[in-house]
Amino acid sequence: MLARFNSDINTLRLPLRWRRKLWPENPRNSGYTRLRPATSPAAPPLAATTALVLSVAMEDAANHDRILILDFGSQVTQLIARRLREAGVYCEIFPFSADPARIAAYAPQGIILSGGPASVTEAGSPRAPDSIFAMGVPILGICYGQQAMVTQLGGEVSCSDFREFGRAYVDITAPCALFSEATSTTTPETTWLPGAREQVWMSHGDRVTTLPPGFSVMGSSEGAPYAVIADPARQYYGLMFHPEVVHTPHGAALLRRFAVQVAGCKPDWTMAAFREAEIARIRAQVGTGRVICGLSGGVDSSVAAMLIHEAIGDQLTCIFVDHGLLRQNEAPQVVEAFRGRFNMKLVHRDAAEMFIGALAGVTDPEQKRKTIGRLFVEVFEEEAARIGGADFLAQGTLYPDVIESVSVTGGPSVTIKSHHNVGGLPERMRMKLVEPLRELFKDEVRALGRELGLPADMVGRHPFPGPGLAIRIPGEVTFEKLEILRRADAVYLEEIRAAGLYDSIWQAFAVLLPVRTVGVMGDGRTYDQVCGLRAVTSTDGMTADVYPFTMEFLTRVAGRIVNEVRGINRVVFDVTSKPPGTIEWE
Ligand code: XMP
Repeated sequence: MLARFNSDINTLRLPLRWRRKLWPENPRNSGYTRLRPATSPAAPPLAATTALVLSVAMEDAANHDRILILDFGSQVTQLIARRLREAGVYCEIFPFSADPARIAAYAPQGIILSGGPASVTEAGSPRAPDSIFAMGVPILGICYGQQAMVTQLGGEVSCSDFREFGRAYVDITAPCALFSEATSTTTPETTWLPGAREQVWMSHGDRVTTLPPGFSVMGSSEGAPYAVIADPARQYYGLMFHPEVVHTPHGAALLRRFAVQVAGCKPDWTMAAFREAEIARIRAQVGTGRVICGLSGGVDSSVAAMLIHEAIGDQLTCIFVDHGLLRQNEAPQVVEAFRGRFNMKLVHRDAAEMFIGALAGVTDPEQKRKTIGRLFVEVFEEEAARIGGADFLAQGTLYPDVIESVSVTGGPSVTIKSHHNVGGLPERMRMKLVEPLRELFKDEVRALGRELGLPADMVGRHPFPGPGLAIRIPGEVTFEKLEILRRADAVYLEEIRAAGLYDSIWQAFAVLLPVRTVGVMGDGRTYDQVCGLRAVTSTDGMTADVYPFTMEFLTRVAGRIVNEVRGINRVVFDVTSKPPGTIEWE
């Protein structure tokens, strides 16, 4: 947790490349160094980082049947992995340019080529390593991946006048292994039957015009005569559409069948199995050593701590740096849960005075983040030294932090994301890392939390940014403003919970605006601050929609806040989606 401070939140952030692309002007997208200490050493050289990622990944893969996803830079590549894992199949994502030796060592049972933004008709556009076509394993190409495969196997792709973006319908014209559930005796076939018309999500300008030898057509749409193609002998399949997105309602079945039925992977990726394997691995890695873990009370750090504690008990000490920027009652809850209920060794450092003192006069959001990040590391180190140091540092790194970014055009073809945890390796502490969640997506971490008995309210908690309430108080942060905001936020969340809406909302919070407005209360005039309310739905924090509360709900909350929270006399509701807004106000 050290380098990124609040792991839960960082995993919800967009990969830097997407943020740069979507909002290049946003200063927050200049890099994710903001929570790295100013004095932190530079990220380790690329080769060293890659080696670390590789060695961990290979060790994990050895225990499972597995699919390899080669990423051509599509924004939805991660969804392919999530669909496979939902089906119980282990998989990993490598960049399309991965070293053939690395691919061979991973020894996948099947390979999926993702979509991507490039056009195979352009010179220099990416291709899959030719070696994969000599491995004798089933291959599924999706969108750009289909076109790359077709081109590499001797077919043709051309720019089409008929571009298809969005919903389309594919007519299934012939049976194919992706369409039938041969291994299931209980599930009747209801989707992708010959003669059926399936809704799919297309996103292509180019299309296949000549099939490579051995291929035939299994389905077509108006704009893509070769929407589904297959070479059953070699077990190569190509889809012009994206089966991984929800807009292809029956798409997950295609991915599952490719992995389980065609490639023969055992669907053995369950949270119970993961928990057992991971506990054994942590024990083997740590031996009799001591581990420290930064605990924030968020989902990732909580789950990582629970898992490590289950593995090594009192060899783990958690350090909870309380920066005084948390929500109401959050700090006592963390202490009560982990020290009280779970009986963990927990150091609770109340550093509110120090943090809020250092924030005096700071109004620039980026400066706030840097100040908080720097102090966090200092306090953490101090506490670590006080308990006599440790051999390992636990981090709640998630899989999206580890996946290597693909840049298809310009710059180095493959870059390790500058912000992921390995890049922030806290070398100055000279500790080895324990990262038990580095194979998991956020929803899998929640499932593991449930498996480990973490209370539902902790598992389902809304994301909370590392810099906490400091970035929900535009302008200078003071004790007084924090207290006002905490009370307003608590009223808002209490009403959301009472209305049974908490779990339908990705993130809801109050913001204290640096604006005073006139009001009347009783016989007197007030000149107090404005409270902004935000509530959004989202699947990953990348994009967000406003949660549509009823007016009755909003006016009830506003009434309670103005009546119960001294210092606020007006409440507004933020109706901005993301983009163009961000979720947080700073
Ligand atoms: P934005 O505001 O960029 O937020 O739309 C997307 C997600 O990231 C969280 N967030 C942060 N998390 N440090 C963090 O640890 C930060 O500085 C930070 N800024 C935003 C935000 O709460 C949302 O979940």
